[in-house]
Amino acid sequence: MNAPNASALPPESDQQFDVGSTPDSLDRMRGIYAQLGDAYRVYAPGRHSHTWVFNHPDDVRRILISNHRNYSKGVGFDRIKMLLGNGIIVSEGEFWKRQRRMMQPTFHRRVLAQLSGIIARANAACLARWDEKAARNEPVNITNDMSEMTLEIILRMIFGTDLDAMAAETGDNPFACLTEESERDIRFAYRFRKLTALIGRCVARRRANGCEPTGSDPDYVSMLLQARDKDSGEGMSDREIVDEITTLIIAGHETTASMLNWTWFLLANHPQVEAKLHAELDALPDEAEPTLQNMETLHYAHNVLREALRLYPPVWVISRRTIEADVLGGYEVPANTDVFISPFFVHRHPQYWDDAEAFKPERFETETEHRKLVYLPFSAGAHHCIGETLSIYEGLLHLFKAARRYRLHRVDQSPVSFEALINLRTQQSIFMRLEPRV
Ligand code: HEM
Repeated sequence: MNAPNASALPPESDQQFDVGSTPDSLDRMRGIYAQLGDAYRVYAPGRHSHTWVFNHPDDVRRILISNHRNYSKGVGFDRIKMLLGNGIIVSEGEFWKRQRRMMQPTFHRRVLAQLSGIIARANAACLARWDEKAARNEPVNITNDMSEMTLEIILRMIFGTDLDAMAAETGDNPFACLTEESERDIRFAYRFRKLTALIGRCVARRRANGCEPTGSDPDYVSMLLQARDKDSGEGMSDREIVDEITTLIIAGHETTASMLNWTWFLLANHPQVEAKLHAELDALPDEAEPTLQNMETLHYAHNVLREALRLYPPVWVISRRTIEADVLGGYEVPANTDVFISPFFVHRHPQYWDDAEAFKPERFETETEHRKLVYLPFSAGAHHCIGETLSIYEGLLHLFKAARRYRLHRVDQSPVSFEALINLRTQQSIFMRLEPRV
């Protein structure tokens, strides 16, 4: 809330670290939050400046919505620029607006409905591997499996059958580094950036061949080649399309994988929630088509995903930088200041959430409007996630297929620690034993 006397500085943490760049950032911030509350500063030695953290929904609203034009993307994005060039997750101003307008229709429900075959096939392949493991009584590495399945989905949606041509060209899955390498360091950035040459050749080939998809499903390479700016009638250059494609891969893969990894972890620890989920899934007939419309009738399953995203939001910190000075939390924030909001803490704010640490999907049955700004796994305002409906559809379809067939039990009860860097992941892979349900 903006206070009339906006002169004092917010309390400063006695710890110094680069928020979001050190793997223990979240653990440290838990301690600082308990001590200093909604608004504080942390000195970031790597950045030679203070990071200001705000976790109150009033400040979230000001940063993301009511005064969003006063904020640029900030330090969290400086790090991923190397991967994503000028794709919409890092671009700003008029260029961002143009790209977003051209891309928005490609995430329309009508388009997503046509992509259901890709999601269903990737799930069928995952379940076929699980069936083999179950027959041998072998556990599954759920963290890896969710990563591989969601990667297959996003790559097929983007490249269609050209994915096979690219694999043939390189002799392997050229995108395997996304699941095989967990570090998101400079080495990864270098390897990933090299993929852009391969993607560029795919885009150029497609343009030369009339821009149509190569398979029977629509795909993003074609949709982006055919997208036109409604004012100028112009399309995107190959370079721009390559940046948007790498953006969709990075933004859409690990986030969705992380949502599903945490969902399985939570379900395995909460048998009553799992039983309610099973009851809902089992009520759908076996032959029900996994269409977007049918999956959206799974209200409890949706609430399970919402609640997993509340407790473990993959994008656990959102970074912005002030353009002009602003007033947040009653403090004057100078121009050019790094400002962080953390959905992780907003989602546990004691003023807005009862029993905030508990996994209770039922809480979303009584969702109210005001909750919107205390619940932001997909952010809010102009830069709100373009892939929200898609990732929820992926989650629902996966639960429909996999949780109907198997119960998953953790192989051991060892504690799971956070790795909170660009995304909130589990530090170790989670292994699960499969119990067939049918
Ligand atoms: C559970 C899965 C996902 C989560 C939790 C998530 C979360 C987010 C968040 C928090 C933002 C906003 C960042 C900010 O305001 O700075 C965002 C933006 C974005 N997301 Fe997602 N996302 C998910 C899935 C996806 C998928 C599947 C795609 C596409 C295939 C996608 C594409 C994007 C893009 C392109 C943006 C940038 C939007 C813009 O700035 O205009 N995301 N996402």
